Order: sequence, then C-alpha cells, then structure tokens
Amino acid sequence: MSKISSLVITIDGPAGVGKSTLSRFLAQHFSLAYLDTGAMFRAMALHLGEGSWSWPQNQLNAALSGLHFCLSGQGESTDLKVNNRTIGPEIRHEHIGLWASYLGQREEVRSYLKSAQQILGKNTSLVAEGRDMGCVVFPWAGCKIFLDARPEERARRRWQQLLDMGQDPDLETLTRDLKQRDEQDRNRSIAPLRPAPDALLIDTTHMTEDQVRGKLQEVVGNAIQEHLGNIFIRT
Ligand code: DC
Repeated sequence: MSKISSLVITIDGPAGVGKSTLSRFLAQHFSLAYLDTGAMFRAMALHLGEGSWSWPQNQLNAALSGLHFCLSGQGESTDLKVNNRTIGPEIRHEHIGLWASYLGQREEVRSYLKSAQQILGKNTSLVAEGRDMGCVVFPWAGCKIFLDARPEERARRRWQQLLDMGQDPDLETLTRDLKQRDEQDRNRSIAPLRPAPDALLIDTTHMTEDQVRGKLQEVVGNAIQEHLGNIFIRT
C-alpha cells in the first residue's frame, strides 16, 4: 500500500507551449497548489547570483543548503516561498532566466531541487510544471501530461502575445531562438526534455486554447476521480 495520499499532476513540454497558463488554470479549477519549478530555478539563480554556476562543488553545495522552499495555498493564491519570502516578479527578467538555465546544467542543483520538489509533492496535492516533472521528479505522479506544438506555432503564439502587449516582435528571430532553446533542452546531458513513457502526449499545434483546456480538464478530472476512489478503497 502506498503511503502517498497527495495527488501530483505533471505538465511538461518545450518553451512557449503554454504550460504556465494551463497549469495555473488546472490548479485553480481543481483547487490544487501550483508548483512552478522554473520559478524555483530562477529564485535560486537570483539568490546565488551571477557566476554561481561555475562555483566549485563544495561552495555550491554549501550555498544550496542555505535555501529552503515552502509552498502554501491553492490555484491563483498559491504562495511559493524561498527562505520565508514570497517569490515575486523580481525573477522574471531575461538574464535571470539565463542564469537559471546555466545553473540547471549543474548536477548538484538538479539533485537539490529534485529533493525539494519531491518533499513539496509528498505533502501537498499539486500541479507541477516544468521540463522533467513526469520522468525524473515525480515518477509516481497520478497524471502526466506532455504538451507539444510545432516550433513555428509556438513562436507565432509568443509573437502574438508580445504584439498584444504593445511590443514589436520579429517572428523570424523568435522562431530561430525558440528552435535553439529546444535543441539545448532536448540534448542536455542531465534530465533532458523528454516525455515520461507513461505521459499523455498532446500536440496542440492545431488546437485552440479552449480545446486544450477542455481536454486537460477532462483528463485531470478523471485522474482526480481515480485518486479519490483509491483513497476511499484504502481507508
Ligand atoms: O520555465 P522557466 O523559463 O521559468 O525556467 C527557467 C529556466 O530554469 C529554464 O531555462 C531551464 C530551467 N528549468 C529546468 O531546468 N527544469 C525545470 N523543471 C524548470 C526550469
């Protein structure tokens, strides 16, 4: 009999596929906590600072042991804290994303965050969004979803988003950058981006946002029913 009674839903996929919006929507709809693992990498990057990805192992491990994450609340009201301070918009800068991605190549960082994420998932039912949630961090998850879409379509969506925000983006540059990030994410040696063998793959290239939401709502709703049924049988 499993001792885990929390339910973990994993949402993985490449950059620009809409993971954050959809994960937040699911967490809100089903009253689950929302675990933004990218925010954990970014908060760590902000804390440790520029160049920390090149620190020797001892120095990096010592710094990591001083970071403590905690998660409370649900849906849109989920509060992710590092060292008792809520992680806010200060992590949403291009250079912090870059630092996070460099730190994410260090084995010590991935291993530290994997443990921290697993502890959160053992205590709280949540939607975990990232790149290695289903295959590495939460292999026991009750529902694993891998979202994908052609890079041209993901770049087009991002282009539209920036246009709506009043910016003047260049579609060609966005497409080229996105393909480069895909290449890096899928080919890095530690925890490369790939679907877990038991993940449900959803290619959203030709789907509207409403259609994707509807499909996810159905899949996650069924997983929750099954999870509740299992708890009922065990008790
Ligand atoms: O999802 P994001 O852009 O906020 O993530 C920032 C960086 O953190 C991303 O470039 C790679 C890294 N990351 C990771 O390696 N594994 C995760 N599960 C989440 C993020």
